[in-house]
Amino acid sequence: MGKLIFLALLELLLASLLMFRPAVCSSNFTDRDALLHFKSAIEVNPTNTIKGGNWTVEANFCEWISVVCSNRRQRVVALDLSYMGLQGRLSPYLGNLSFLVSLDLTNNSFYGTIPKEIGRLRRLKELVLQSYQFEGNIPLNLAQCQNLKLMSLALNKLTGGIPREFGAFPELQQLFLSFNDLGGQIPSFLGNISTLQVIGLVMNKLTGSIPPTLFNRSLTSVMLTYNDLSGSLPSYLCYRWSNIQRLLLSHNQFSGLLPEMLT
Ligand SMILES: *[C@@H]1O[C@H](CO)[C@@H](O)[C@H](O)[C@H]1NC(C)=O
Ligand SMILES: *[C@@H]1O[C@H](CO)[C@@H](O)[C@H](O)[C@H]1NC(C)=O
Ligand SMILES: *[C@@H]1O[C@H](CO)[C@@H](O)[C@H](O)[C@H]1NC(C)=O
Ligand SMILES: *[C@@H]1O[C@H](CO)[C@@H](O)[C@H](O)[C@H]1NC(C)=O
Ligand SMILES: *[C@@H]1O[C@H](CO)[C@@H](O)[C@H](O)[C@H]1NC(C)=O
Ligand SMILES: *[C@@H]1O[C@H](CO)[C@@H](O)[C@H](O)[C@H]1NC(C)=O
Repeated sequence: MGKLIFLALLELLLASLLMFRPAVCSSNFTDRDALLHFKSAIEVNPTNTIKGGNWTVEANFCEWISVVCSNRRQRVVALDLSYMGLQGRLSPYLGNLSFLVSLDLTNNSFYGTIPKEIGRLRRLKELVLQSYQFEGNIPLNLAQCQNLKLMSLALNKLTGGIPREFGAFPELQQLFLSFNDLGGQIPSFLGNISTLQVIGLVMNKLTGSIPPTLFNRSLTSVMLTYNDLSGSLPSYLCYRWSNIQRLLLSHNQFSGLLPEMLT
């Protein structure tokens, strides 16, 4: 009898352990740890909002400044750190904020490479890393953020090429890579992004011609000024880009005649 009760209790214990396992794997404590690691990698925080502010374990992280959580699950969904003048490296732990939908680091001075762990943020819709100092190549893993609608890596010191993997974004509408040191050609795969509307590649070192596949997209803004692009502009440009509102092509090496409607 005693043995039976013991077994039943053991079973109950096992069941409850199994039930709680998912919570241990990824919980709001994972989010809190990720934010604390992010904080510890910051070297300069002129306004003391994060380092000297309320990003401490005493306060609920959902109430920390710049952090937005989902109501139900209490998981971090948005991190808006724009215009804070933060300096330091970007912690790879950010890749653990698995519910993150929006990350905005506009106008800070994060430096070093963009952590490839950002590619783990599968729910991300907006990624804005305009931060002046990021260097190295664009991590190919970013292409794993399949829900991205807006990506801006503009205003950094990124080198290398535009990854061909970027042709596989199913939802991307706006791609900004302007003001970097990107070289190579504009990959023709970008023409595979059927949702693309805006593309900004101003002030890089891009060469070659505009890939014909891009003319098959109904783009509204194409900004390519200050590169080394060459080749002629096809006469059908204006028919294909019939919704174009902003077309910036100057300061390149284009040759030939201007398409009729542009003259
Ligand atoms: C984490 O979630 C649990 C319930 O899932 C909640 O009781 C607790 O307050 C949350 N902790 C923080 C720091 O938000
Ligand atoms: C943290 O600071 C911000 C801004 O000062 C404030 O809005 C927020 O309520 C604070 N949170 C806590 C938990 O004190
Ligand atoms: C979070 O990310 C870091 C670095 O990317 C990793 O070492 C750590 O194990 C991850 N997981 C949790 C639950 O913190
Ligand atoms: C953006 O950052 C730069 C350099 O850190 C600074 O000079 C400038 O004033 C900032 N711009 C805004 C609008 O805050
Ligand atoms: C782009 O589309 C073409 C066919 O239209 C396909 O062959 C190619 O694999 C696609 N590339 C990517 C990167 O998805
Ligand atoms: C553009 O689309 C047309 C038909 O929609 C197709 O025949 C052509 O091969 C495409 N061109 C490129 C370069 O993808």
